[in-house]
Amino acid sequence: MAASGIVPKFKLLQNCFTANNLRFRLFNLENKSRLIHTTSSCLRPAHDKDFEKAKERLNKLKEEPGNDVKLKIYGLFKQATQGKCNVPKPGMMDLVGKAKWSAWNELGSMSQDDAQKAYINLVDQLAKDEGSEAVEEVKGPGVQYEGLKITRENKIFHIQLNRPKKKNAITWQMYKDIGLALKEAAKDDAYSIAVITGAGDFYCSGNDLSNFANVTPDKIAEMANKGKEVLLEFVDAFIEFPKPIIALVNGPAVGISVTTLALCDVVYATDLATFHTPFSQLGQSPEACSSYTFPKIMGYAKASELLLFNKKITAYEAKERNLIADVFPNDVFLKETTSRIQEFAKCAPQSIRLSKVLNRSSELQLLKKVNKEECELLEERWQSKECTDAILAFFTRKS
Ligand code: COA
Repeated sequence: MAASGIVPKFKLLQNCFTANNLRFRLFNLENKSRLIHTTSSCLRPAHDKDFEKAKERLNKLKEEPGNDVKLKIYGLFKQATQGKCNVPKPGMMDLVGKAKWSAWNELGSMSQDDAQKAYINLVDQLAKDEGSEAVEEVKGPGVQYEGLKITRENKIFHIQLNRPKKKNAITWQMYKDIGLALKEAAKDDAYSIAVITGAGDFYCSGNDLSNFANVTPDKIAEMANKGKEVLLEFVDAFIEFPKPIIALVNGPAVGISVTTLALCDVVYATDLATFHTPFSQLGQSPEACSSYTFPKIMGYAKASELLLFNKKITAYEAKERNLIADVFPNDVFLKETTSRIQEFAKCAPQSIRLSKVLNRSSELQLLKKVNKEECELLEERWQSKECTDAILAFFTRKS
């Protein structure tokens, strides 16, 4: 039987830190002292908002950091909220107390502001290292999604692209917000399917080409890199979505609004819809895994007509090529698809969710790899003369 004095130090630290709850208890206690501190001080650290976010993010980490990192976090937290360590060193036998005290004390006279910054950076790094759902933002009811109309009803999460004057072209922010909307729908058990459609006469005219306009030459590489990251995450949100996605193509579809259809589970279109992927016309290249999915579902030759040579196809041709499941006359499109979707929503939610995940599982990693490769090529293409000339031609076409 080990007396507490000879229990190894790391064991005691483990006892102190390993339980998930402890992290909450530890930091909740500190929150209280922080409140007292900040209300009584006129010298508020400058990063309060980000610091609060970092605290929330820490609680969402899936993996427990090691004890050394926890001590570092503890020390920085104390320094950020209370300043220099002025409390007496715990007694010899209090090994955990002493380790915590040392972690705080060794920060010396680091300013509270710098401690907040270091705390935020450390938590960000931990979140990044675990690849991290913890950094992900999820919006929810009452929060605005840019360019989207979200309707939450009867197990169905509706995402409507809502920029009809611009034919529902997708801005950088919309890419991010569609991804966040999908994440909201994925997480909330109230919804068993997601539906995507467009407002007005178009389903979507694809990438908003002004995403690339007004970029000075010295910023093109930066824009292309940012675009790559945004697109990667957007397409991953489709690949990883754990419930069925139904696309209702209410009118013409261009570019990424066509390619993402092959990542949806069921696609219906009005007979007025057309499908167009003018990548080579724009000096660009396929995205949303279409370089893999299109040849797979329609055969290589037919896919090449679309992906390499800009062939625009009708709804009936899209059905014949297996890109969509069915076509409805425009005057009954809404009624027909609404009643089908309501029937889908009655299906056992766990059953359709698990079946969807199973359907996707064998190709999930492959799709993610293809997505990454496509985004990397696009990063290059967006910086090419072919691409910038094509975009210039689009915006000057009416002059
Ligand atoms: N990016 C930016 N703006 C777009 C857009 C896009 N993808 N699609 C449409 N718009 C804008 C137009 O510039 C126009 O804006 P304005 O009213 O300020 O001039 C408005 O939306 C309406 O489009 P318009 O071209 O007048 O309508 P149309 O019915 O004649 O043509 C399209 C519709 C979609 C065929 C045509 O706008 C087009 O070819 N857009 C580009 C599509 C594209 O190449 N997408 C990228 C694919 S990778």
